Amino acid sequence: MLNTKNERRIRERLRIIQKHANLRGLSLEALEQYNYICNLEQDKKLRHKDVVIVMIAFFVVLSLSGAWVNSILSVRCVIPANYLVWEATRPLADCAYCENVTEPIILYNVTRQEFAEYSYSSKPIIVKNAINHWRATKEFSFDLFKRLYLHTDGSYESFDEGCQFLNFKSDLFTLREVFEMSDERARNEPGQYPWYVGWGNCHPDIQATVRQYFEIPHFLPDDAEFSATENIFFGYEIGAVMHLDYISRLMWQGQVKGRKIWSVAPVPDCDHVCNKFQYYVEAGDIVLLDTRIWYHATTIPKGEFSMTVQSEYG
Ligand SMILES: *[C@@H]1O[C@H](CO)[C@@H](O)[C@H](O)[C@H]1NC(C)=O
Ligand SMILES: *[C@@H]1O[C@H](CO)[C@@H](O)[C@H](O)[C@H]1NC(C)=O
Ligand SMILES: [Fe+2]
Repeated sequence: MLNTKNERRIRERLRIIQKHANLRGLSLEALEQYNYICNLEQDKKLRHKDVVIVMIAFFVVLSLSGAWVNSILSVRCVIPANYLVWEATRPLADCAYCENVTEPIILYNVTRQEFAEYSYSSKPIIVKNAINHWRATKEFSFDLFKRLYLHTDGSYESFDEGCQFLNFKSDLFTLREVFEMSDERARNEPGQYPWYVGWGNCHPDIQATVRQYFEIPHFLPDDAEFSATENIFFGYEIGAVMHLDYISRLMWQGQVKGRKIWSVAPVPDCDHVCNKFQYYVEAGDIVLLDTRIWYHATTIPKGEFSMTVQSEYG
């Protein structure tokens, strides 16, 4: 039997824990169950030892769930906080970049001189048949990159050193997993889950090899700065959900294989004067877009394999 003094002390301590739990945001259901423990004086059979065990168990649960609640909170907070900072620091958009734009500008056989008036316009542009001469259009494949990453020392370690890998909505979380998937899945055979990923080639040997297969588009301004790495995107169907890119320059993307459907939308400040629309690019085209101020999503037509080389200039 507990004496009243002890009982009071335990109840007091439990109340304090409950208060803390409440502050940390534990659910009401959890607290209700906990009230049951607080009312332990009603159960006269409960012995002191049992109460101590219950208390210890509760401390463990509480600290674990506290950590859990905190992790949820911090995970939740990271995204909106950054988003808000971005939204707040983004200068009020000058909507001229998207006003009256309802389709991409389509250019053929364009020279650097002819391209000059568009190069920093931020408008969606497609340059048709611009990369048909790239070796990449004939030779890039899943297997070529698989061999390259398999046979280069430290190839995967480049991802631990800041090289970027994007899995989009795929369940493949590293490039190693991508190259280790079954051949059936790699070819998206019937009954297989489609996959779509992208990554930066930062490993110096891999970069040097990959750069033998393509070149920076000849029509881009010769005084532009170019990105130090290129990204490869390949896969089936999935593509990227609507987003803005947090990059410092303009984007160009060579459509090496397959087609890709682009859905673009203005920033919300310009909804009242600008339009969303879709277009598609075909193998051999280069698509240019200021992905920092145009929301964009991409999808690949069902059953087609898309492969692109993307980089930045500005
Ligand atoms: C968009 O079109 C309207 C109507 O034709 C015109 O008044 C306006 O100047 C255009 N805006 C831009 C940025 O071209
Ligand atoms: C572009 O150049 C190719 C080859 O020189 C030519 O066949 C084609 O007609 C040109 N296209 C346009 C739209 O000028
Ligand atoms: Fe993007």
